[in-house]
Amino acid sequence: MTSTQRQVEVSYDVGNDFFRLWLDENMHYTCAVYDGEMSLEEAQENKARVLYDFAEVTPEKTVCDIGCGWGSFLDYAVRRGCKEAIGVTLSTEQAEWALGRKLKNARIVIEDYAVHVPVRKYDALVSIEMIDHLCSPAQAREGRAVEIYKGYFDRLATWVEPGACFGFQAILRNRIPRNRKDLEDLAFTADVIFPGGLNPRIEELVLAIGNQKWEILEMHMRREHYGKTTAEWLRRMKLHESTIRATWGDQVFDDYDRYLSTCVRGFAQHYCGDVQFKLRRV
Ligand SMILES: C[S@@+](CC[C@H](N)C(=O)[O-])C[C@H]1O[C@@H](n2cnc3c(N)ncnc32)[C@H](O)[C@@H]1O
Repeated sequence: MTSTQRQVEVSYDVGNDFFRLWLDENMHYTCAVYDGEMSLEEAQENKARVLYDFAEVTPEKTVCDIGCGWGSFLDYAVRRGCKEAIGVTLSTEQAEWALGRKLKNARIVIEDYAVHVPVRKYDALVSIEMIDHLCSPAQAREGRAVEIYKGYFDRLATWVEPGACFGFQAILRNRIPRNRKDLEDLAFTADVIFPGGLNPRIEELVLAIGNQKWEILEMHMRREHYGKTTAEWLRRMKLHESTIRATWGDQVFDDYDRYLSTCVRGFAQHYCGDVQFKLRRV
């Protein structure tokens, strides 16, 4: 069972105007990829470039972005060139924003990926930090994480022909904190900001991908990049503290301050990480 639609909406429907204050102008809500000195905007564009290249998208191909958020990758894909970009998301608030971009050759489907059936097979796939919504902490405790992630990779394998490529990105859980404050802050982030979800471990992903349906062609660890990304989100959010307190209330500011500060510490302390894979359908 994945995060419910309601749980996903808790994570993303605080309000588009709230996230606009501190994300990059294109509304990527995932780890950017820095190459030397870059602004957040440049690093997010660079992340989209990496995944577009991993998926081997070209102007003749269709690409599906599973968990498309506010449509930031779709925007990149249609600007750089694709026949059609299809985004699947569970968040209605995000979908409305994505539709407001009025992207030519893009389509948004508000649907659980687990029931989505492509009209025609896609030529390429991208999915950026959506897999953390698929396995609950309770399911992980029952030892079901690999089986659930395998269900996701197996389902996506039916959406493409052999040879198609998949640019995949996931936030990871690495080490367990040894002190109570960090444990509590990570639990708060999981329970209050992203209810129902759990970050996978790298070894769970590798086991779930297996080697029957997908071949791993490249793997890049991006822990430090996510540290930089979340530090910049936190810096920008704090610049708008009085507006956020006045518009959304003290609780929202305090919760997001705690969550983003926990992320910055979590990446620095190796509690969390991030990975990008280039996969090819066998
Ligand atoms: C952290 S956001 C990432 C958004 C976007 N990929 C980005 O880079 O900004 C995760 C996204 O996954 C979507 N999502 C979560 N569970 C889903 C599911 N079962 N089916 C489709 N989309 C899902 C959410 O609606 C949200 O848009």
